[in-house]
Formats: sequence, structure tokens, C-alpha cells
Amino acid sequence: MEIELSEEQRLLRDTCRDFADKELKPNAKRWDREHKFPKEAVQKAFELGLGGVAVPAEWGGAGMDNIAYALAIEEISRGCASVGVTLSVNNSLYCDPVLKYGTDEQKEKWLKPFARGEKLGCFGLTEPQAGSDAAEQRTTATRKGDVYYINGTKNWITNGPVADAIVLFTMTDLSKGTKGITAFVVDTNTPGFLRQKADEKLGICASPSCTIFFENMEVPVSQRLGAEGEGFKIAMSTLDGGRIGIAAQAIGIGRAAFEEARDYAKVRKTFDVPIAQHQAIQFMLADMATELDAARLLTLRAAALKDRGVRHTRESSMAKLYASEASNRVADKAVQIHGGMGYSKELDIERHFRDARITEIYEGTSEIQRLVISNAVLR
Ligand code: CAA
Repeated sequence: MEIELSEEQRLLRDTCRDFADKELKPNAKRWDREHKFPKEAVQKAFELGLGGVAVPAEWGGAGMDNIAYALAIEEISRGCASVGVTLSVNNSLYCDPVLKYGTDEQKEKWLKPFARGEKLGCFGLTEPQAGSDAAEQRTTATRKGDVYYINGTKNWITNGPVADAIVLFTMTDLSKGTKGITAFVVDTNTPGFLRQKADEKLGICASPSCTIFFENMEVPVSQRLGAEGEGFKIAMSTLDGGRIGIAAQAIGIGRAAFEEARDYAKVRKTFDVPIAQHQAIQFMLADMATELDAARLLTLRAAALKDRGVRHTRESSMAKLYASEASNRVADKAVQIHGGMGYSKELDIERHFRDARITEIYEGTSEIQRLVISNAVLR
């Protein structure tokens, strides 16, 4: 596989790195502490074209590819993992399915402003009883004439408290299992769309998520995404792309932890020498750097396949599985290298350690990724 980056991809990566160093890294600790959604920083990221990196320019996006997208999410997440997931959800989980399954009329209204970064999207699949078992949808959409009435609950909706629209999955026929699921795109100001208070979480504290109740929410047929019964495939193929974003986020968090540990090891002394001169530390740094590079190669491979229009379910799951687990191992070692300081709120290391954890859970747990991969290799 060719991994030479184009001039355009390199430029976007470097621009995001610079933005992360100047605008995100210096503020991420405060946003985390205050559980504050960094609206202005997200707006500035949107001004760099990060609303719809791989969305064609005719639909308001930056018109780049998924390799550029993965590189951008890694750099942004190195600065602030919460901003990283905010962008990943808008790009992969909101814009991507509208681009792929929306009609031109739908794209005009529901894609352009989101890919341009004027509005923010979210993705409503998870329900209290439908996490790993995504087919267990209980939110219903009942059609009467040209309108669907939607009732039910979604939870853990990343961007939910601040989003302008949601790609929403419902059951239109409870007897048909996965073939009874139907997708919609809905304005969050629609009567009957009831957001609850933001969730309190271990990490990514500046990325708001919440439960949403739907009470007789009226949605016109014109806002249905795809045909009735196509929803499960829309959700799963969307997650094939989303998992590339989360893999990139995990690498970004891991890189932040690795770079801080490497720099600390050069200045912190024990037994009269910088700890970087102890082989125990050298080996940890070697493993951390190797795992991050391996994770990036897997992620760029999945992104390259997506760019070629090839099914990449297995490769995305491998990237997400490996990158998220590597990120946690790297963050754990970074805490260890820092010793007591790694455990202190004075530094950023403890935040990376907390932020890394969610990457093994959302957009499919590590166990779900192993299921998807084993299904593919045993087929
Ligand atoms: N692309 C296209 N079609 C797919 C597909 C894919 N990737 N995966 C499955 N399908 C199709 C299958 O081909 C099958 O179609 P047919 O019936 O026509 O053959 C149909 O969908 C059903 O497939 P399965 O029998 O494999 O479905 P399943 O019920 O066994 O579930 C699963 C499979 C992989 C476990 C799935 O439920 C899953 O991925 N679960 C995890 C859910 C998840 O990742 N949730 C994340 C929520 S979003 C989030 O986290 C956002 C955030 O906060 C940032």
C-alpha cells in the first residue's frame, strides 16, 4: 500500500497540528475540568474545513479524502480528545450517511450547512437496551399519511446537547428485526425532541452527550433517509467509517501521552541520570512509539479502502480495536513514566489516561470489533 502523503494531505495535517498546539492544547485541561463544550474552538476548527473533510465541495465539504480526514482527527485529538470526537461525529456519523443515502434535496438542507461547519450533527442509534446489540431498537416510527410519529429513547448521544440535527434510527416494523429499522434526519428543535441534562463521565468531559426522549415527534416522509427497512445497513456501514475516526482519535490521545512521557523522561532524574537513560524507560518508549505507528498504518489502510469505495468493515474494526487498546496501553505507560506526577491533576497525563478509555467502548466495544473481525475471517 502506498503511504506517501500528498501535498494536500500533509498541508491539512500540519495545519491541524499547528491549530492543536496553539488553540487546543493550552485550554484542554480547563475545558475538561469545567466540563465546558469549547464552542469557539470547534467553530475555528470548522473554519479550517473540518466540518466535512471528505465531503465533496459541491455539498459544502473540503473535498478531500478519508486519509486526510484520519490525519486531521489524530492531530486535533492530540490537542483535545473532546474536540476530536465532536468533529468525528459530525463528519463520520452525521455527514457521511446523509451524503451516501440522502437525496439531492435532502443534501441541500441536511448536509451543506453541516459540512460547511455552520451547524453540528449527531447520531442516534444507542438505546438503553440497544448498545452492543444495535438491532434491539425500541424507538418506533409509525406512519400516518405523509408523516411518521416517533416515540422512544436514545442515550449516550455524543453532541446531543448542542447538535442542530440528528441521524436517527427507529423501528418501523417490530416483527422484522434488523429489516424493520428505518433512518431519518431530524431537526433537534422539532416539537417532541426532548434533550435531558448532559451525562457526567470519566473522560472526554468537554464533549457533551445526553439522553434524548422522543414524544410523538412528527417527522415528514421527506426526512426519511433511504427506504423503510434500510436503517440497519445504513447504521452499520456508517459505523465502518466512524470507527476510522475513533481509531484516529485514539492515536491522537496516545501520541499526546507518548510525547509528554518522552519529554519528561529527558529531564526527570533518578539515581543521578535522566530516567531516559534507564533501559526500563527506553523499552517502554520504544513499545509506545511502535504501537502508535502500527495503529496509524491500520487506520490509514482502512481510510484508503474507504476512499477506493471498497467495503472496509473488517479493516475499520481492526484499526479501531488495535488503536484503542494501544492508546490505553500507551497512556498507562505514560502515567508510569511520570510516577506521582502522572497521577496528579497538575499535568495533562491523567486526562489522556481517562480520555483513552472511551475509545475501547464507543462506536462498538473491543468485544464487538473482535466479533466483526472473526465473522470476516471465518466467512
Ligand atoms: N455494512 C453493511 N451491511 C452490514 C454491515 C456493514 N458493516 N454489518 C452488517 N450488515 C448487514 C448484514 O449483511 C445483514 O444483512 P442481511 O440480513 O441482508 O444478510 C444485516 O446487516 C444484519 O447483520 P448481522 O446479522 O451481522 O447483525 P447483528 O444483529 O448480528 O449485529 C453487530 C452485528 C456487529 C454486533 C452490530 O450490532 C454492532 O455493530 N453493534 C455495535 C453497535 C455500535 O457500534 N454502536 C455504537 C453506537 S454510536 C456511538 O457510539 C457514537 C458515539 O458516541 C461517538
